[in-house]
Amino acid sequence: MKPYTIAITGKGGTGKTTIAAAIVASLIRRGLSPVLAVDADPNSCLDGVLGVQVDKTVGRLREESRGAGTGGPSGISKRDLVELRIAECLVEAKDFDLIAMGRPEGPGCYCYANNLFKDVIGKLTQSYPFIVIDNEAGLENLSRRLYQSIDLLIITGDPSRRGLATIERLYNLAGEMGIAYDALALAINLVRSGYGMEELEALQLKTSARHLLTLPFDADMALAGEQGRSILGVDPSNPVLSRIDGFITRLGLQNP
Ligand SMILES: Nc1ncnc2c1ncn2[C@@H]1O[C@H](COP(=O)(O)OP(=O)(O)OP(=O)(O)O)[C@@H](O)[C@H]1O
Ligand SMILES: [Mg+2]
Repeated sequence: MKPYTIAITGKGGTGKTTIAAAIVASLIRRGLSPVLAVDADPNSCLDGVLGVQVDKTVGRLREESRGAGTGGPSGISKRDLVELRIAECLVEAKDFDLIAMGRPEGPGCYCYANNLFKDVIGKLTQSYPFIVIDNEAGLENLSRRLYQSIDLLIITGDPSRRGLATIERLYNLAGEMGIAYDALALAINLVRSGYGMEELEALQLKTSARHLLTLPFDADMALAGEQGRSILGVDPSNPVLSRIDGFITRLGLQNP
């Protein structure tokens, strides 16, 4: 099965994790599950926003398995062992699973471990119809091409001049880095007052973004974040959640 993969990137603190979690919630609500939520930010917090807890990350596992013999106990191949242990990193919740990538590689050669992990994670992702990847600010993760293909890339930003310029820069950078995606969406978050729709539309044109999503600043979302509460407990009629839900409706996704 080829999963429908949504990857979220953008400027720091502009709602990547919130939007990723809201998309997971929206997919589940419309029966588009199971969803694999991937926390690709080393400063992981998608688990808390989704109301679960990660105990073990792929990064830690990679660190442990690097350089350790070629096989596991009683003739299990190293690949099978990694597959088993990656399954242990998976947090299983109702209708979604979560995997956290954890810390990136330290100094030294990780080629062997990386290829092995890429292979195993590639296989794992094939068993989910929908994948949502929350990234750190920037494009570092996506450039490693751990995921076969990105159907929808979402770049987040705030509506300030600088925020919009950052979106444009990330878009250009994605092109330079050869990050391939089928469609692009721009998510302008934390919108407080009247903003220049013209500027947004010009940016949409420049970036050939198929979708433009504007999300208001919302006091309940801010409070949920401050208190470290899961957004799964926030009323779905909340203006941010309902806009994201409407956006998912417009994508017209269906179960395979
Ligand atoms: N529309 C919104 N209105 C009010 N607060 C919001 C909104 N969207 C996100 N927040 C809050 O802003 C903070 C940052 O959001 P979030 O963690 O989703 O951003 P991020 O881009 O993932 O940050 P980082 O770059 O640190 O990973 C959180 O406390 C979150 O609750
Ligand atoms: Mg985040």
